[in-house]
Amino acid sequence: MLVLGLETSCDETGVALYDSERGLLGHRLHSQVDQHAVYGGVVPELASRDHIRKLSPLVGELMQSSRVRAREVHGVAYTAGPGLVGALLVGAAFGRSLAYAWDVPAVGVHHMEGHLLAPMLESSPPEFPFVALLVSGGHSELVRVDGVGLYRLLGQSVDDAVGEAFDKTAKLLGLPYPGGPALEQLALAGDPSRFDFPRPMTTKPGLDMSFSGLKTAAITAYKRVDDEPQTRADIARAFQDAAIDTLVIKCQRTLRETGIKRLIVAGGVGANRSLRAALAAFGERECVAVHFPRIEFCTDNGAMIAFAGCQRLCAGEHERLAFGVRARWSLADLAPPG
Ligand code: KG4
Ligand code: ZN
Repeated sequence: MLVLGLETSCDETGVALYDSERGLLGHRLHSQVDQHAVYGGVVPELASRDHIRKLSPLVGELMQSSRVRAREVHGVAYTAGPGLVGALLVGAAFGRSLAYAWDVPAVGVHHMEGHLLAPMLESSPPEFPFVALLVSGGHSELVRVDGVGLYRLLGQSVDDAVGEAFDKTAKLLGLPYPGGPALEQLALAGDPSRFDFPRPMTTKPGLDMSFSGLKTAAITAYKRVDDEPQTRADIARAFQDAAIDTLVIKCQRTLRETGIKRLIVAGGVGANRSLRAALAAFGERECVAVHFPRIEFCTDNGAMIAFAGCQRLCAGEHERLAFGVRARWSLADLAPPG
């Protein structure tokens, strides 16, 4: 089954073609980062308008470069939430309309299910069950995954998502939006021994996490010392080390408690090379197989939506002509496809 996937939940317009037999045939991404950077964050109305401008040409380009004709597409998958409601509605209306015009089924995909299944686009996909560490701008979750749609939320951040903490700390350090990659870059020059930030919620049992305290630790340290570039790099390093250590400890705990030996890491923060290295080293130490999506499929993209949609469409699931989107949507509300 050949599926066109559309991602428009936030500030990236992603489109992709995934075939259940042949794999990923192609994908395209248009990032709106430059438009939002001047405002220091995503402006929802601008995001919706840009998705409207870009979706149709991107799909045309993708189909042409992948040499796929409209009549060869068997289904359309679009992100139905969680995300910015206006941005979601653009993808949903476009996707549903294309499916109607092409007379094929359409399915609304949960954005985090897309992230969670993204490692399955790689050459040696993980088998079920596995533990998923989902780390993005809006979510920090540890999920037990027994199959597509079989998700049990085991732990989550009680306050800021880890990506949000990266972004806020980056802003404090005067870094441009989006903060996560910029902070990672700055941390490379940081001295790891200068500041020692806490590893929140790691001394007591439990799988929940907290990242707002790390942001506060960064603010406190910043106010106390000079504003030299080296100091900023040292704070970035201390923040990143503490966030990564905390995530590794929580993953270790979750794997021990569940007895599962497979971990996948997905979502935008999964693009962080230090986090990937720390989790890969942990995997070697503990004989845990650790799977990541390729870096470009950690952040938002159309390929993960095409893949997740394909799993559901192949099982016969599809939407009626009326469709909806959800700004808030828990993974735990999902059921297996069909
Ligand atoms: O998954 P994603 O693209 O969008 C959401 O679903 O939220 O994740 C975006 C988040 C942002 O907070 C961004 O700063 C963070 O992922 N991020 C990173 C890196 N790349 C993206 N955080 C740390 N290091 C990175 N290299
Ligand atoms: Zn995302």
